[in-house]
Amino acid sequence: MNTFKTTDTVGGVVTQRPALSRLFEKESIDYCCGGKKTLEEVCREKGIDLTTFIATLKEAGNEEMVDTAAMSLSELADHIEQTHHAYLRSEFPRLDEITEKVASVHGKTDSRLYRVRDTFQALAEELLSHMMKEERILFPMVRQLEGSNEAPLFHCGTLATIIGQMEKEHGQAGSALESLRELTDGFTPPEWACNTYRVLLDTLDNLERDLHKHIHKENNVLFPRALEMEERKGAARDRN
Ligand SMILES: [Fe+2]
Ligand SMILES: [Fe+2]
Repeated sequence: MNTFKTTDTVGGVVTQRPALSRLFEKESIDYCCGGKKTLEEVCREKGIDLTTFIATLKEAGNEEMVDTAAMSLSELADHIEQTHHAYLRSEFPRLDEITEKVASVHGKTDSRLYRVRDTFQALAEELLSHMMKEERILFPMVRQLEGSNEAPLFHCGTLATIIGQMEKEHGQAGSALESLRELTDGFTPPEWACNTYRVLLDTLDNLERDLHKHIHKENNVLFPRALEMEERKGAARDRN
């Protein structure tokens, strides 16, 4: 179950997907004794926007369903491209516009907003080129390696060299995220912030969360498994 209806009961959702209980806890929604209430009822009671809450459940549900350990390397590369790369490509133009707007309207009040804009723009540019390298060079190499009995001799170097470079770029992206967090007091809007300003911080907060998951899947799952496979299949090639 990963589509939720307004008439689904809170208890039913948690029974099917226990990990989603944390989202109810976050909103102080009682899913035990109050489990018979529908999503529509609890959202009305708590003053939460129903559509947004259902979308959040769906997103968390999708993420929870991803079992990276059970995926082949090609499946994992496909998943990263279709989920995380697609997400960044859809968010960048929007964020570009909002960071520009907020800096030009409120930069005089808080000059850090100019740096937020510049840091974001540099991060987006670097990540677009980074994702292109993964999609055009690294991921195709990983798929080719997985599909062969012996490690192919790649004309653009070993996987280890390219992975080393990708990890370095992840580190740079991580530092840019830290700066964005610092410059915005942990993505907390000041009292006087207008809606656009609030949307900007909320979007940056989500971007950080998604990028952390994205980099985790590459650095801690895809890359070590690909390197191990290259070593194993390379040894098989050298024996023959
Ligand atoms: Fe990536
Ligand atoms: Fe990456």
